[in-house]
Amino acid sequence: MIKRVEVSAPSKLMLFGEHAVVYGRPCIVTAVDHRMRVMVEVTDGNNLELYAPDVDIIGYIERISNLGRREAPKGTRFVSIAVRNFFKSFGIKSGLKVETKSDFSSEFGFGSSSAVTVGVIKALSEVFGKPLDNKKIFSLSYKTILDVQGIGSGFDVAAAIWGGTIYFITGGKKVEPLPVGELPLVVGYTGIKADTPTLVRQVADFYKKNKKQVEKIFDSIEDIVNEGKKSLLSRDYKKLGKLMDQNQKLLDKLGVSSPELENLISATKKVGAYGGKLSGAGGGDCMIALVPSIKRESLKVEIEKAGGKVIRAKTNSEGVRVEK
Ligand code: MEV
Repeated sequence: MIKRVEVSAPSKLMLFGEHAVVYGRPCIVTAVDHRMRVMVEVTDGNNLELYAPDVDIIGYIERISNLGRREAPKGTRFVSIAVRNFFKSFGIKSGLKVETKSDFSSEFGFGSSSAVTVGVIKALSEVFGKPLDNKKIFSLSYKTILDVQGIGSGFDVAAAIWGGTIYFITGGKKVEPLPVGELPLVVGYTGIKADTPTLVRQVADFYKKNKKQVEKIFDSIEDIVNEGKKSLLSRDYKKLGKLMDQNQKLLDKLGVSSPELENLISATKKVGAYGGKLSGAGGGDCMIALVPSIKRESLKVEIEKAGGKVIRAKTNSEGVRVEK
C-alpha cells in the first residue's frame, strides 16, 4: 500500500441550464483550470488531521469514528464526510492526514466543495488500493455533497471528475462529454459571494408558488441547453452568444439575477460580445461572456469599469488526476 498521494481536481463554470438542472433538466458545464489539490497520507492511530488553510482550517483533529456525528467547523465538512463515506463503503480503519490547497478563492462559485470532495475520494481510492471508475467516484462524491448540503444536481461533481465540457442530467443520469475545444470566455466576478443552497431554496419556494410558470421557464431553458449543445459542437459562437442572452433572461425571471450581475452583463453589450449570462446559482458571484478575440481586451476593461473583477479561466480542462 502506498502511504501518500496527491491528486488535483478542476473547478467549473456552468455554461447553460443552472437551476433547471435541479429539476431533472439537462445543463452544460465546463471544467476550469483552477485546480483544488488534495494530499492524503495514511497515519497510525484513528484520527483525521486536516489542514485546509484556504478555509482557515489548520490542524483540525477528529476521531474518524466521530466524523459527521458532531458539530464541526464549516471548512471541514466536505472532507470529513467524504472520508467517513469512503471508510464506511470499504470497511477501512486507519488514521489519516489530509491537506487541501486551492488555486482559486472559495469566494467564487467555482465549485470548491465538489472539487475537494472528488479529490478526497480519488486520493483515498489510490492510497488504499481500491480502484474506482468515474461512475463510482461520482456516486460516493455526490452522496457526500447531498449528506453535507442536502441539495444539488451533481453537475459540479461530474465536471471535477470527467473534466472537459459535459452535457449533464440531474444526479448523473446522463454524463456526456462534448468534444469541444477551449471556449473564448471572459469571466467577471461581481465581488458578492453567493450561497448556492440559499438560492436553490429560493427557486424552490418560487416553484412551489408558481409551478406552471416555472415549469415553462425550465422547458425553455431545456430547449436552450439542447440548442447550446448543437452550437457548441458546430462552434457557432454567434448562436451560442444569443442562447446565453436568452438563458440570462430566463434566469432573471427565476429571480436569481442581481443588479451587479446585470451591470456586468450589460458591459458585454457595449463591446459587442456574442452574449453573456450569470454562471452558477446567481445572486452575485460570476458572469461569463463569449467574446470574439479582438474584443476580449476591451470587454475586460468594461467589466472592470462596471465594478467587476476579471478572473482568468481556461475552460475544457482535465478532470481529476493523480499528481504524485
Ligand atoms: C449552482 O452552481 C448551480 C445550480 O443549478 C445548483 C446545482 O445544479 O446543484 C443552481
